[in-house]
Amino acid sequence: MASLKGRNILSLKNYSQDEIYGLLAKAMELKRQLKSGLPHRYLESKTIAMIFHKPSSRTRVSFEVATSHLGVHPIFMRDEEIQLGVREPIGDMGRVLEGYVDAVVIRTFAQSDVEELAAKTEIPVINALTDAYHPMQSLADLMTILELKDRLTGLKLAYIGDGNNVAHSLLVVAGKLGINMTIACPKGYEPDAEVVDFARAQIRNLNHKITVTDDPFEAADDADVIYTDVWASMGQEAEREERIKTFRPYQVNSEIMAEAKPTAIFMHCLPAHRGEEVTDEVIESAQSVVFQQSENRLHTAKAALVSIIK
Ligand code: CP
Ligand code: NVA
Repeated sequence: MASLKGRNILSLKNYSQDEIYGLLAKAMELKRQLKSGLPHRYLESKTIAMIFHKPSSRTRVSFEVATSHLGVHPIFMRDEEIQLGVREPIGDMGRVLEGYVDAVVIRTFAQSDVEELAAKTEIPVINALTDAYHPMQSLADLMTILELKDRLTGLKLAYIGDGNNVAHSLLVVAGKLGINMTIACPKGYEPDAEVVDFARAQIRNLNHKITVTDDPFEAADDADVIYTDVWASMGQEAEREERIKTFRPYQVNSEIMAEAKPTAIFMHCLPAHRGEEVTDEVIESAQSVVFQQSENRLHTAKAALVSIIK
């Protein structure tokens, strides 16, 4: 596989299947090194900026711990301080940061802001979640599935809930890796057609399918993975009450899990709203792998930094 040095991770749309598997292999290697107590300070004397315009626990902590293990110095920048795009144009911020740091990790609203930042700076940019995509989450998701199922291609992943950033990122990688993904959403909350079309266009084996339905039971039928996320994402707080009513039939509960394979795993990017998109019973069941998934955010964050920082 060619080196990924200098590459951005904005949506993973421009990553090949081999490049994604390369990142997963690197994450697994770094996980083994950590568990065996082997030092892996591969990025000693490097520095990254972390711009966060929305709340975060997993992403911030996993990246900061990743930097600590790799020898990188992180600079956490709250948007209230830098006021991206208000105090100065995003491109200027990118060009300024390029003079100081070796990469930028950014969590914000508009995907176009992250794309603009990446276009204007020579240093790699990692999308730590926008309204449109959450690529770092899908890398951890793929790693977790691979650890538990030993393969990705040909599996059935049922995503039940909102056609949001997490769903979009799963679609991108599902198309690329030949995961049969079925998304069940209430009408009007489907993933963007452009992302569904992109995912379908990536499929190389005609036996693989990307399906969008409004029937959660159809989605769950014979699935290897049942995945859900919150019904109201960050920035949609005003719609929360209405969404809770609309999404109620899309709750992942024991009836939904019963439609899936007996060996199916339950996944959630977290934070979870127990009693809304998932019941306490399911998230606490033996099928739930949500904390392995969140731990893998650390290993995949490290793989990304090691692979793209020059
Ligand atoms: N899954 C995830 O990105 O969590 P945070 O919003 O806490 O970072
Ligand atoms: N869809 C959620 C994911 C949080 C990790 C959000 O954007 O709030």
